[in-house]
Amino acid sequence: MPSNPYQEIEIGSPGRIGWQINYFDEVGSTQRVAAEMAGQGAPQGTVVVAELQNAGRGRLGRSWHSPPGVNLYTTIILRPKIPLVEVPRLSLVAGVAAAEALETVAPGIVTLKWANDLWLNGRKTGGIIAEAITDSRQRLSCVLLGIGLNLNLALEDIPDDLRDKATSVRIATGRECSRPEIAAALFNRLHSRYMEAEAQGFPAVRPVFERYMALKGRRVTVVEAGSPTVGVVRGVGVDGALLLETEAGTVRVMAGDVTVEGAYE
Ligand code: BTN
Repeated sequence: MPSNPYQEIEIGSPGRIGWQINYFDEVGSTQRVAAEMAGQGAPQGTVVVAELQNAGRGRLGRSWHSPPGVNLYTTIILRPKIPLVEVPRLSLVAGVAAAEALETVAPGIVTLKWANDLWLNGRKTGGIIAEAITDSRQRLSCVLLGIGLNLNLALEDIPDDLRDKATSVRIATGRECSRPEIAAALFNRLHSRYMEAEAQGFPAVRPVFERYMALKGRRVTVVEAGSPTVGVVRGVGVDGALLLETEAGTVRVMAGDVTVEGAYE
């Protein structure tokens, strides 16, 4: 077992996010490792962090560039008592927590692109994936909340095809940051926001998401299940849907990829 630079930020007892941080030098994906731990009964708040992922997973079957030594790759095991259909809201809650954590090192330039992207100065610095694990009766047994944050990644280490779309804290601010400090801020903010959403529902966190929301007032295209909707971004609904003002009135988009001219898709 490698020495664990994240051990010093472990906090609280089982149930609290970050109570136990399992650290690995190299994994395929922290999502896979966390799935195994969850299957063996790991309690809520158990965290997996890897130095390097050789098969990091993004949304929609994409891969997640995961070089060693510079970024944060983590999966948090959650056991929420919510219906399956509400799981996507957790990635919005996590987005708020991650934005608040990034704000500590990149004040004033953090935004959230619905649904799952973290931006610094309009370029992607992080992404979130919420995978639901169900039991044999299709009831939710846990959620694997995967968060990837580009922190000290240098511009020359971004693959060519992503160079004009991706960024990192270091690129955006000119300063390196401490990965354990950002991880501590992330797990603490996530614990608070998750508790808030669990007690009062997503509407309690929604105003903060909207405060960070990128592209408000911008005309975008959202492709949901292959069919595009064009409209102006107005905010998020109480259920986490993207609210788009279209020629036919306000449309609620539950899932999909948002694209806008002149910004990262
Ligand atoms: C996205 O924007 O497409 C979501 C990216 C999620 C990446 C993180 S890194 C930690 C965790 N492990 C993975 O394989 N993926 C998530």
